[in-house]
Amino acid sequence: MGSTLKMVGIMFGLVLFLAISSVGATVSYDDKSFIINGKRKILISGSIHYPRSTPEMWPDLIQKAKDGGLDVIQTYVFWNGHEPSPGKYNFEGRFDLVRFIKLAHQAGLYVHLRIGPFVCAEWNFGGFPVWLKYVPGIEFRTDNGPFKAAMQSFVQRIVGLMKSESLFEPQGGPIIMSQIENEYGPVEWEIGAPGKAYSAWAAKMAVAQNTGVPWIMCKQETAPDPMIDTCNGFYCEGFHPNKPNKPKMWTEAWTGWYTQFGGPIPYRPAEDMAFAVARFVQNNGSFFNYYMYHGGTNFGRNAAGLFVATSYDYDAPLDEYGLLNEPKWGHLRDLHKAIKQCEPALVSSYPTVTWPGKNQEVHVFRSKNGACAAFLSNYDPSFSTKLTFQNVQYDLPPWSISILPDCKTVVYNTARISSKSSTPKMLPVGGSLSWQSYNEETPSADDRDTVTKSGLWEQLSVTRDSSDYLWYLTDVNIASDEGFLKSGEWPLLTVMSAGHALHVFINGKLAGTVYGSLDHPKVTYSGKVNLRAGVNKISLLSVSVGLPNVGLHYERWNEGVLGPVTLNGLNAGTRDLTKQKWSYKTGLRGESLSLGTVTGSSSVEWVQGSLLAQKQPLTWYKSTFEAPGGEEPLGVDMMSMGKGEVWINGQSIGRHWPAYTAKGSCGNCNYAGTFNEKKCQRNCNQPSQRWYHVPRSWLKPSGNLMVVFEEWGGDPTKISLVKRTT
Ligand SMILES: *[C@@H]1O[C@H](CO)[C@@H](O)[C@H](O)[C@H]1NC(C)=O
Repeated sequence: MGSTLKMVGIMFGLVLFLAISSVGATVSYDDKSFIINGKRKILISGSIHYPRSTPEMWPDLIQKAKDGGLDVIQTYVFWNGHEPSPGKYNFEGRFDLVRFIKLAHQAGLYVHLRIGPFVCAEWNFGGFPVWLKYVPGIEFRTDNGPFKAAMQSFVQRIVGLMKSESLFEPQGGPIIMSQIENEYGPVEWEIGAPGKAYSAWAAKMAVAQNTGVPWIMCKQETAPDPMIDTCNGFYCEGFHPNKPNKPKMWTEAWTGWYTQFGGPIPYRPAEDMAFAVARFVQNNGSFFNYYMYHGGTNFGRNAAGLFVATSYDYDAPLDEYGLLNEPKWGHLRDLHKAIKQCEPALVSSYPTVTWPGKNQEVHVFRSKNGACAAFLSNYDPSFSTKLTFQNVQYDLPPWSISILPDCKTVVYNTARISSKSSTPKMLPVGGSLSWQSYNEETPSADDRDTVTKSGLWEQLSVTRDSSDYLWYLTDVNIASDEGFLKSGEWPLLTVMSAGHALHVFINGKLAGTVYGSLDHPKVTYSGKVNLRAGVNKISLLSVSVGLPNVGLHYERWNEGVLGPVTLNGLNAGTRDLTKQKWSYKTGLRGESLSLGTVTGSSSVEWVQGSLLAQKQPLTWYKSTFEAPGGEEPLGVDMMSMGKGEVWINGQSIGRHWPAYTAKGSCGNCNYAGTFNEKKCQRNCNQPSQRWYHVPRSWLKPSGNLMVVFEEWGGDPTKISLVKRTT
């Protein structure tokens, strides 16, 4: 009894101590801004997604973010990377979330943790593990028991991990805010009542985690209290939170846009980015986050939504390789300095707005303690203007804002760039590589490792996304009296697929290839096929190019050959192959042998020299190379190749698809005027992505293994390592 009482006493004391020690270390907010330990702040934030770079790159990226004037690093949490199979967690390597957050903390930065766990992000399946699709009764992102249970358990796991490492601000850590769900507004609008109920549940569940820091819900006007609703977009000055006690926050200020295979490379001029941010701040905005500050790379296959390229450069201030994207990085750094000089006035007053002339606007923040900051705007997209403020005349370029932290001196104009531009170059290093090849055989329906059933199977339900590839194999008997055998009018094979690419082999020979695009993922193959009397082997290699990251009803998402599959032009007219016996084989033989790894690659016989396969579909290539000297980031030039995947020392650097050229318009780009993702594009009629990032930390000094799987056929002798310089 006595000792139990004493224990209770000690525990009570401990609780009291914890309660007292956390007083003062608080994060709260009002309509003006976030308040951290009693201080109002204008918070400047940038997105860096930890799995889109390597742990070795993180300190440098974070330091460059700090040097660029950021206060906060924002990241999503990637569920499918952290829980690859139910209850089996992974927090290693590129998924070492705790290490990433601690590095931000060490650099003196705060963290905004967007747990989601739906993250969108042009990430495979929007961050959901594919196994979730096969939980009985599941419906995604709605008022559904199995979904909510899985989501809650993951959120608890992440919050628990953060707490155990003392990473929330009240514990002395860097996390000052979290996010539940993601851009749910449009979904709720679409599905109505169950969406509302789910939203209310998600908010309550999040609050119950007791993190001690505020939660936000982005792009969701209906976000229930106390969730702060926030804005995502190219501009957010007109946004208002749904309650007067919430600060005006911009969780995604899009610095550019993603590249898709088949599309040009989008970019956003630094002048317009700075203009959009200044415009937001002069309209009471107190938190903005660049999406992305460093976009990085969609390594492997768990990255990238439908046809999203391997590069996720995003025209971010730090380029894919971690180098400064100038003049954007420097121009925004200068903007941040100017904003910080205005901070005392910004956080303690509301702006007085006046309109001294056509397309002119003046915002003045004057606080009781005498601080004064002014923003002078010219909204005209074509003409510069002379604006008079407090009897002084100011020249303003078109579509620009001048910042006067003391209401007198212009320290910054969004359209006047003083930082230098840089032109990145990809310089070949290390000379030519010597290659060996191995042919991936076309399997046949009677192979031992196939599964047979009647009719066509949906691809994802067979592969569970363990591979991009699924073979659909069937036999077709052709009677010797078929008319086409004499006339030579070959029958027409038609294959309808839900996506995303398809190779058709007849008796082991490639008959044709079709592939979709982001806007049209479905494909139809239609071609005359050369069949012979007797048994013919039809082998369809269906290829996935990532699962979608937006949209409703992930539980109903399909890919692969769903049919019909028909053969037209026989004596009996059309033969429907859809319902006949099909055999299935998930993945490539080379994948099951792990040819991308050092041990796996020695399990088969490779050929070289005059036997080296050239321009042949379904071929594996390997080469070894020495790490180029120096510190510059490295890449590999895949210009001579078609489509497939590349591994460096067993690690996948992502899908390559240089043969998919960019269609679109790449005209002149004027920074002035309203921006959208199609306004400024480069690289038309070139490969959407020619170079692929090879992280230096994945290399050893010598004996590095590069393995390429090539679907279409290419010339490996022209593959070269490059270093990126600016
Ligand atoms: C700033 O916020 C205050 C208080 O909500 C509001 O009255 C004012 O209209 C806002 N100003 C601008 C320019 O948005």
